Amino acid sequence: MPGFEHGFISKGLIEKYAPAADYSIFISGPSVMYQFVMKEVAQLHLAPGWVRHELNGNTAAPDQFVGYSAAAKGKTFSMTVITRDQSTTIPAAANESLLIALERAGIIAPSMCRSGICSACRSQVLDGHTFTPAEFDHRRAADRGFGYVNPCVAYPTSDLTLQVPVHDYANQFG
Ligand code: FES
Repeated sequence: MPGFEHGFISKGLIEKYAPAADYSIFISGPSVMYQFVMKEVAQLHLAPGWVRHELNGNTAAPDQFVGYSAAAKGKTFSMTVITRDQSTTIPAAANESLLIALERAGIIAPSMCRSGICSACRSQVLDGHTFTPAEFDHRRAADRGFGYVNPCVAYPTSDLTLQVPVHDYANQFG
């Protein structure tokens, strides 16, 4: 149709419409689209804060993203959750985010965007492994280095221990 673009959003297409000065990008579409688009956007070398996308929530298929450990697929792991001086152990399915596992167990963990952007759910993995799709990984480098994850977009790939910040919840584990 005249006047409209169609097809994949490539680096060249973005550059065709981008201004010469600094600019930011807002990406909107199905989460699977990000696997292609983010590779193109990376070639533009924009600072992370200048690339934003809509809130997609968590995915039920983390194995579709690059870097996922195939050995984890279909498994249910054991997650020990520590809040203040309390701990409990709950199941954590490989295809559900850590935040969903917490909520399924009745643990009220902080959250807002549920898309890996706001860091309201920021928690620390003390032991074990998780997977965060690169497309939804907006953590600071220091957070990555010290084992912090955003549970809304982090998936268990082994048994793990998670320290969850609880702000003001009495009787957390009922
Ligand atoms: S709720 Fe916003 S990053 Fe997890």
